[in-house]
Formats: sequence, C-alpha cells, structure tokens
Amino acid sequence: MANTSTVAHRIEQLRAEINDYNYRYYVLDEPAVPDAEYDRLFRELQALETQYPDLITPESPTQRVGATGETTFDEVVHRLPMLSLDNAFTDEELKDFDRRVRERLGTDEPVEYVCEPKLDGLAVSLHYENGRLIQAATRGDGYAGEDITANIRTIPSVPLMLRGQGYPNLVEVRGEVYMPRAGFEALNRRLANKGDKTFVNPRNAAAGSLRQKNPKVTARRPLELCGYSVAVVDEGLLPDNHWDCLNLIKDWGFRINPEMRKASGAEECLDAYRSLLDKRATLPYEIDGIVFKVNDFSQQRTLGFISRAPRWAIAQKFPAQEELTTIEDVEFQVGRTGAVTPVARLRPVFVGGVTVSNATLHNMDEIARLDVRIGDTVFVRRAGDVIPQVVKVVLDKRPENARLIERPLHCPVCGSDIVQIEGEVVARCSGGLYCAAQRKEAIKHFASRKAMDIEGLGDKWIDILVEKGMVKTVADLYHLTVVDLQSLERMGEKSARNLVEAIAASRRPQLWRFVYALGIREVGEATAKSLARHYGTLERIAAASDDDLQTVQDVGPIVAGHIQSFFNQSHNKETIDALRSAGVEWQSESVDLAAQPLAGETWVLTGTLSEMTRDEAKEKLESLGAKVAGSVSAKTTSLVAGAAAGSKLTKAESLGVKVLSEQEFITFLETRQQS
Ligand code: IVH
Repeated sequence: MANTSTVAHRIEQLRAEINDYNYRYYVLDEPAVPDAEYDRLFRELQALETQYPDLITPESPTQRVGATGETTFDEVVHRLPMLSLDNAFTDEELKDFDRRVRERLGTDEPVEYVCEPKLDGLAVSLHYENGRLIQAATRGDGYAGEDITANIRTIPSVPLMLRGQGYPNLVEVRGEVYMPRAGFEALNRRLANKGDKTFVNPRNAAAGSLRQKNPKVTARRPLELCGYSVAVVDEGLLPDNHWDCLNLIKDWGFRINPEMRKASGAEECLDAYRSLLDKRATLPYEIDGIVFKVNDFSQQRTLGFISRAPRWAIAQKFPAQEELTTIEDVEFQVGRTGAVTPVARLRPVFVGGVTVSNATLHNMDEIARLDVRIGDTVFVRRAGDVIPQVVKVVLDKRPENARLIERPLHCPVCGSDIVQIEGEVVARCSGGLYCAAQRKEAIKHFASRKAMDIEGLGDKWIDILVEKGMVKTVADLYHLTVVDLQSLERMGEKSARNLVEAIAASRRPQLWRFVYALGIREVGEATAKSLARHYGTLERIAAASDDDLQTVQDVGPIVAGHIQSFFNQSHNKETIDALRSAGVEWQSESVDLAAQPLAGETWVLTGTLSEMTRDEAKEKLESLGAKVAGSVSAKTTSLVAGAAAGSKLTKAESLGVKVLSEQEFITFLETRQQS
C-alpha cells in the first residue's frame, strides 16, 4: 500500500471494525467474530501504525496502553461533587425513604424508581470532549479525586471514543469499575502461585489494580466498567429521566447493568430487592445491595441533596459477605483420594446469609501464606455459592497464646504415614482403601446422585456401615440384606427394605455413570461421559493406551496417567470383578456419534422447569448427542426457557437463537425418542 491516503483509509476502516468488535465483545457480551479474526485485524492495524507512526491517534484501539504514559494521580477537582448514597438496612427504612420522597414531592401517587444493582467496586468519573476520553478520575473524598486516565484507558469496556453522533461536546459519565468474580479468582490464583499476597475481595483487587503507577500492570487485570449516570453536560440535551439516560449512554458505547429495572412505589422496590438478592450468588460480579433512584429528573431536582447524599436515591444493603471471627481449632480431614485438608473450626459467624462454623484452609502452603494460627482473629468470606474461605488474619488481634498449625505426620483416621510428593501442595494419607476415611468417601462418591444414584444411602449410613465393618468395598453394598440393615440402630424394617431395593435398582447404570462412580482421580462427570462415548465399553477404556486416551476430549497426559494407573491396580480390578459378580451390569454405549440426532448442537437451559429437574433435562439432551452449555453465545443452537427465565432468554432472543418453552421441549423430546 503505497498511497498514504489509502493507508489512512484502511487504518480508519480497521479501527472502526475493531472498535465495533470490542464493543460487542466487552459491552454487549456478544462476540461477533472468532478471536482469530479479531487478532488478525488487530495485527494488521498494529503493522500499519508501526509503518506509519504519524497516523497513530490516542483513540486507536492499539493505544489503550502507553499513549499517555504513566498514571500521575494528580488531583482532579470534580466539577460536581461525587456524592455517596444513604443506606437502608431494613424494609422499614426503605419504606420511610419512599414516604419522605412522596412528602417532599407532595404526592400520594407511587413514585417511579430505577432499581440498579450496587456494584462492589470503585466510582470513577470519565470526561469526554468531542467524543474523546480526555480524563478519568477516582471519587477521592467526593470533591477531588486522582487522575487515573492512563489506567482507565486500559479497561476494554471503557470507550476511548463515544459511539454514534448524538453525544454532547462535553460530557462526564460516571460509573463503577469492578472486577468480575472469575477474573478475581484467576488473579488470586496467579498471585498465590507466585507466592505473592492475594487480594481479600474483588473490590480490593479492583482498587489495587487502579492504584498501579504502570498502566501495563492495570492492563493485565480483568477490570470492567459499568456506567450509571451522566453528570456534567455543557451542550446538548439529555432525556428527562434516569432510565432513558442509562439507555443513552449504552448507545454511546458504555456497558450498563442488564439487571436494572423500573419499580413503581416501595412495594415494587422491595420485590426488586428480593429478586436481586435471590440472584446475587449467580451473578458473575459482586454486589453489596441495590440502589433505588427516583427516575424523573424534575422530581430529582425538587428533592435535591443533603450534605453528601442525594435525597432522591438510597442503597438498600445485602447481608455482608465478610465478617470477623476466631479460629478455635484446626482439624485435618481425609478425602476420597487421601488428600489431607486442614479445616478451621470457627466461632460461628453469620456471613453471606448463613451461619458458618467451618472453613477450609486448603493446604499447608495456604496456612503459611496466610500466616494463620489457632486463636487468630480472621476475615471469613462467603460469596456466592462458594465454600467459606479464611482470607486474612488480623495480626493486631493475635493473642499471646496463639498456636502454630503443624502438619500431622500420620493420618488422623487410620494412622498411616502422610506423604507429600515433591512439587505437589497436597499431602496424602498413604493408607489407600485401608483407610476408613478414604473408603467412606469412595463409597459416598459411588452412591451419589450423579454416579450410581442410590436413593436413601446417605453419608450418615455409609459412615455407620463402614465403621461397623459391614461394607469394605462398594461391591459389598450389593450383598446387604434387609436383616443386616435392620440390625442398625434407627433403621426400621421399611427403610431397610427400601434401601435394599434402591441398591438393587442401581444395578444397570449407564456406562458413563459407572466410570464416574469408580472415582478415578480427576475423572469428573464430563470426562466420564467423553470416555464412555468414545470407547463404548469399560473393557475398551481399561485397555486403551496412553496416547489413545489423550485423543479423548478433556483427557490430557495427567488424566490419562490416572486412568491407566487405576486399571493397573489389582485391587481395583478385583472390585470391578466383584461388582460384576454381584450383578452390576453397566450398559454399553453407542459410539456412533452421527447416529445421535443432536450431535454437534449446543443447548442452554434456563429458568425453572416444572416437569423435570435441570439435571434430567441435561441428561436427556446429552443422550441425544447435544452439548449442554451454561451461557448463551453465537454458538448456541437452542435455548430451553423455563418459568421466570431472565437474561439468558433476552440474550438468546437478541441473537436469534431458537427458544423452546418447557412444553415445547417435552414434545420435542417425545418425538425424538420415538424416531
Ligand atoms: S449512584 C448520587 N449507582 O456506591 C449517586 N452508585 O455509596 C451516587 N455504586 O460511590 C452513586 N453501584 O461507588 C450509584 N448503580 C449504582 C452504583 C453505585 C455502586 C457505588 C458508587 C458510590 C457508592 C455510593
């Protein structure tokens, strides 16, 4: 390309295309092209800009890092103060707020509010001049913050240039910078692996990432921005209400929260509070409450402000996800594979909506990293459905008699040596199936719902059966009689009969369930399914070579090694033989993928199904050859939408994905199963 104007034109074209793909990927969550195509365009742009450096502009998507050098943290005085929000901790306080709003507005009519999740991150202000991002600042004390422009530019969901034409010449958009859960966990894993200090929560991680002097560091942190208001506008008109304003900044290229909704009056606000609280654990980011804002701007003006907060908005808080408590003791638990895990016994504490009295400490490395001792006061965190974690020790509160936690040399259950393989963090009991703890766990896993699905054989009964020596291996389960079981305390004749029947009913599992039930290390449900589908019979799985195993989906060298060593051990062969002689017959599978009517299709399930559980629906789809995914994307073939389906349904509709109601899905399954 010799002609500079042709080059300039191509550069413009590439930037527009890349910006659009960025917007769809980071703001709309709807990738428009495969990553490879994006990378190709990006590299072409980089190459042209290297060749023609005069044509580089700060808004070019290649210039997110580096165009403005280091972050200075110079003071930025906010033209309009960045206020905070009043809090409501109870329904009553929210109703009081609504009552005050109506009194001040002199109305008995229900007031219209916009309900938005209260993202747990940091407030930022972004100034745009003629559509270009010129300055970004933290909230600071509300009156003056710090200039963090260079760092903010690295966040992919921040528009460097506003989209469209309809924006004012000068505009300030405010919003929250936050770190989604998955990114936070990955970052902490990365830091822990390097032996670095980890962050206590996503908010802390977001703050730490924005506080970096070097924007290259910020650029590697998984931050996102969600816009929630427009503050200063010099020219150009804004809509007359908050809701339309949010939609307007969406058109300008900002991500806005998909969970936002309108509510009329306090009762609807409280409904919104409850439904958002129900959803809290499933959201990909953390929220600490819900914000209610009077929608109408003229009503907002009438209401005005008090000192540091507007009278037209309030945040209703959710239960805290972090609390302080003390470590009363540390015990070591032995898992199915012998892994010895330290578990902290805590003074019971209400956190993340439940009372927590145990938290895993993972392993000795984690104990050393946290420098945790018995007697310490610690931060306990329980977020989403994740198990409670000890995330930080409050050293100032360490009592003098705090005790160091020592790794046991012998298994607390069977007394065998505990060994730790060089380079592995996990210590293991060397007792194998001699160890009652490992035996119990192996049997629990075997009987569990996704494995042999033996109804009524709960963990408690397994503990007792193993302790009494009535069950040593999983095969022994199939020899239990009603008389045997009735000898157990609190086991009546009817329960004994039911249990014997349930055990008998598990005799003909699908092959994948049986493979999963065996409890081969790192062979989970998905891998068991891939193995069953690939090989069709247990004999073929057991006989497969290392190389051959690695051709199976999800199977790498480590898992292949675990599979081979499992089938090479004589006691495992004996158990499988004993199961076979006890009448267990796993069902072979068709390996002919093409014969599966939904082969190659990806389905997503959402909402509440009334006729079957999600797992049942998933199993039916998989038995027809479909893959079942957790989120909707351009690759989704069909979506089954149960009652109260939410954002996945909206997304599927916007992508033109086929949507089936539960009834349509059932009819579909019936016709498939007949053909
Ligand atoms: S509105 C005058 N909306 O909460 C209104 N704030 O305590 C000021 N926050 O500093 C903010 N999500 O960091 C608003 N949807 C949302 C929010 C939100 C999170 C944070 C923000 C602010 C703090 C107020």
